[in-house]
Amino acid sequence: MIAVPILLTDCIGLSPVIPDDPAAPGVPETAALHRRGIKSFVARAGRMTSAQERAWQELWPRYGVEDQGGLLDLRTLFGREAPCTLEIGFGNGESLLALAAARPEQDFLGIEVHRPGVGHLMLRAEALGITNLRIACRDAVEVLDQQVGDAVLDAVLLYFPDPWPKKRHHKRRIVQPAFVDLVARKLKPGGRFRLSTDWQNYAEQMLEVAGACRALENEFNGGYAPRPDSRPLTRFENRGQRLGHGVWDLSFRKP
Ligand SMILES: C[S@@+](CC[C@H](N)C(=O)[O-])C[C@H]1O[C@@H](n2cnc3c(N)ncnc32)[C@H](O)[C@@H]1O
Repeated sequence: MIAVPILLTDCIGLSPVIPDDPAAPGVPETAALHRRGIKSFVARAGRMTSAQERAWQELWPRYGVEDQGGLLDLRTLFGREAPCTLEIGFGNGESLLALAAARPEQDFLGIEVHRPGVGHLMLRAEALGITNLRIACRDAVEVLDQQVGDAVLDAVLLYFPDPWPKKRHHKRRIVQPAFVDLVARKLKPGGRFRLSTDWQNYAEQMLEVAGACRALENEFNGGYAPRPDSRPLTRFENRGQRLGHGVWDLSFRKP
């Protein structure tokens, strides 16, 4: 196996190592993503601080969502009935934390595979006394497919997903037709799928792929959305703005 070091993004300071691509030439991307196990992330141990270790021991029972087989009952999970927003790949959880703190009347479910990021978010959530947040530490495609019921989510957020900039890695991008169909299925009628990226080429792919999903409509005439006030400005984006990087937002609605 050849390992190719590549800097995906510095948003949470990671430089993962990418293993050989398991997809054979000619295999359609979506089929490859779902049947051949191409992941949108690279599994990595990541270094955990002692505070994050503590969070995993003490706070995971409070915030963590285990895979117990079968569908999650959101009402049982949060102990109430409230609108629920899912954020996929929250990194260190800066956006999700800000949203959960600002909207205590709503519930927030975050999915992230990077364990230190999950630990970080749990620590911050505990410090702020956040109770409307739950976290799954698993591949979001699997969680959506196996644990989230159909038409139960009010919003799905995908902010700055790994861009996989090299062409030969584009099949690893999470935004693929089958993924968008899956997201659309999980949204309630009237629910929204919001995406953002700082990679123009990925923005174009998002526009094309999500735009082609028949279960969703682009809220901005087939184009990009203005930056929504609802998307917290993270340190990553703030720095990007200072450096003059572009950011593209997209917003789709399930009729
Ligand atoms: C580029 S970072 C962006 C983090 C955050 N959204 C932000 O704006 O700072 C992408 C994150 O998505 C996570 N990720 C990628 N694919 C995922 C998947 N299939 N399931 C869960 N997390 C995933 C990665 O671990 C990484 O933390």
